[in-house]
Amino acid sequence: MNLRAVATGIGHYLPERIVPNSEFEKTLDTTDEWIRTRSGIERRHFAAEGETTSQMAVHAAHRALEMAELGVDDIDAVIVATSTPDLTFPSVATMVQEGLGMTRGFGYDVQAVCAGFIFALANANGMILSGQAEKVLVIGAETFSRIMDWTDRSTCVLFGDGAGALVLEARTGSGSAEDRGILASDLNSDGRYRDMLYVDGGVSSTGTTGKLRMQGNPLFRQAVGKLAATADAALGKAGLTSDAVDWIVPHQANIRIIQGTAKKMGLPMDKVVVTVQDHGNTSAASIPLALSVGVARGQIKPGDLLVAEAIGGGLAWGAVVLRW
Ligand code: UT7
Repeated sequence: MNLRAVATGIGHYLPERIVPNSEFEKTLDTTDEWIRTRSGIERRHFAAEGETTSQMAVHAAHRALEMAELGVDDIDAVIVATSTPDLTFPSVATMVQEGLGMTRGFGYDVQAVCAGFIFALANANGMILSGQAEKVLVIGAETFSRIMDWTDRSTCVLFGDGAGALVLEARTGSGSAEDRGILASDLNSDGRYRDMLYVDGGVSSTGTTGKLRMQGNPLFRQAVGKLAATADAALGKAGLTSDAVDWIVPHQANIRIIQGTAKKMGLPMDKVVVTVQDHGNTSAASIPLALSVGVARGQIKPGDLLVAEAIGGGLAWGAVVLRW
């Protein structure tokens, strides 16, 4: 029997407040033109005062469960990818359990920054294939607005808040790349790059939350090569090449990185789900948000072959190949 972790529901939540680039012109030496041309971002959503990562995750989870036609008691495990938890502990995942009214199963968080959802998907796949869980909610949720330095124009214009949730269910497949579900993943990290993207505070160092610091240009130069390589590696593990791909679902950090990666993979932009203009960089939430929007737009259809890829703080990067 070949078990597969098959996607049966997807949903997302974006906070109500939408902030256009022009709003930053009032307080920073920046322009809408610079932000658009350098990053592709036009607007982003920011959480309301008091609105937390777990609350956004619960909204997204409800929508994913609805599409999967499942109740909370059907779920065996909740895995949340986040770097912006409500509290240092307990995990956001256990807060999501409580928010959903889920009294069985287990939940925990995964922290791989912008690559977090990829790591969480690979982890959920392992849980399903090993028989630990049959139905898993995998969520990416972030409130990056809370770790912005609002005086640093090189970072605070790039990030946004939001959440996306995916339901994975154990199904029997044939073992071939024609199966629906997760077909392969490729995970990487290298701590030597930590100064490129980090938060300058934490529990055991400063005792503070800290603010995000990024060397954007050096990171940009790492991103395209590493993303194309990990996407190709994941496709190779599934016995496929990029010719088979219907949709790239990339981490939405910068339109130029998205374009560069597609080009390196030999794929046209009409095979790429792009949401960066509306969401900015929502870190671990960016891929499930893009997946959910791609499905809602009617771009992603059952049977389509997707490759999702992301890179972020660590550096940590990876890709998942999934037949929808
Ligand atoms: O999600 C995790 C992964 N994150 C990423 O992958 C982000 C990767 N990096 C990037 O997306 C890009 O590097 C940025 C969008 C952050 C920056 O684009 P860039 O083309 O690499 O620009 P740059 O950093 O080389 O900066 C060019 C100029 C600099 O001025 P000088 O030194 O040339 O005079 C910056 O000071 O643009 C300046 N600049 C700005 N100007 C207006 C930086 N931020 C701004 C701004 N408005 N907001």
